[in-house]
Amino acid sequence: MADIRNIYKVKEEISSHPMDSNESIESFRLTYLSRKGIITELLAGIGKAPPEERARLGKEFNELKKLAKARYEEAKSAISSEKASRVTATDDPTLPPPPLPTGSSHPLSQTLEEIKNIFYRLGFTIADGPELEDDFHNFTALNFPPEHPARDMQDTFFIRKDELDPSLDLVLRTHTSPVQIRLMKEQKPPVRAIMPGRVYRNESITAKSYCLFHQVEGLYVDTNVSLADLKHTLITFAGHLFGKDLKYRIRPSFFPFTEPSLEMDIWWETNNRPGQWMEILGAGMVHPNVLKAVDVDPETWTGFAFGMGVERITMSRYEIDDIRLLYDNDIRFLHQFP
Ligand code: DAH
Repeated sequence: MADIRNIYKVKEEISSHPMDSNESIESFRLTYLSRKGIITELLAGIGKAPPEERARLGKEFNELKKLAKARYEEAKSAISSEKASRVTATDDPTLPPPPLPTGSSHPLSQTLEEIKNIFYRLGFTIADGPELEDDFHNFTALNFPPEHPARDMQDTFFIRKDELDPSLDLVLRTHTSPVQIRLMKEQKPPVRAIMPGRVYRNESITAKSYCLFHQVEGLYVDTNVSLADLKHTLITFAGHLFGKDLKYRIRPSFFPFTEPSLEMDIWWETNNRPGQWMEILGAGMVHPNVLKAVDVDPETWTGFAFGMGVERITMSRYEIDDIRLLYDNDIRFLHQFP
């Protein structure tokens, strides 16, 4: 039944309903605000009232409903903030706070860290160079002939391209090898260093390739450095990174800045994938032209160099099959590498 007296009576009840505990607040909600509560009942009554009374009843009803909702919301937020600030008998303010969630280092950083540690133990120092390079350091000093395909816009991001004088070109470095040149200009041999860093290639983005990735370059120049030294260094390195039972092979290859040149493959098989050869690095004996470009006498000094891709190694170690996952920064992915 909805008449004015009834609405006033409910209004009074609402104002005096106890609201000091979760239970009383819930009983308030059930009594007044739920689908079968008094307020719904009143509304149905208004529909049945004589038409001339309906407008006034409607107005009073709306106020009542507003009041009930406001009381409910207010009581609920008061009780939850009170709970948050209340110190209970079991809280000991002298205890250290609960630990904050910690992040983890990126799988690429983890791999890079391991690579650095291995070479550190082999007596290598660490050097770095700029990601924006000139033509001399990225190509010319490394014995790239003028018509080499890497000097093409298709493969390289040019920041400045001079049609007449290529020595004015600026590129995003396509490999870390230019750091060899910078290092030898600064420091005369003996030199033994690795040079980690980011490199760029003008490639379409797929599961297997990305427009940027990371390399670790290595350089050792001294008197009497031989191909045997290179082989020993690479095998020791790979054994530390992939385990002693590692199966590897070393194949002849070609790079403008080394002669002879080689590539190293490792046999990679996991529970989920049949075994296959995977190339992990390129290497070779530093080409005499490279030494000459930095005023190091190739009659006195010899050296070896190598360069490896950090993404490739990381993807095989962690069984990641899409390179793009390494750059998405998706927390669900990253949390898998504590
Ligand atoms: N710079 C080469 C590349 O990006 C990798 C490389 C091969 C580096 C042989 C070297 C080397 O130092 O000796 O593919």
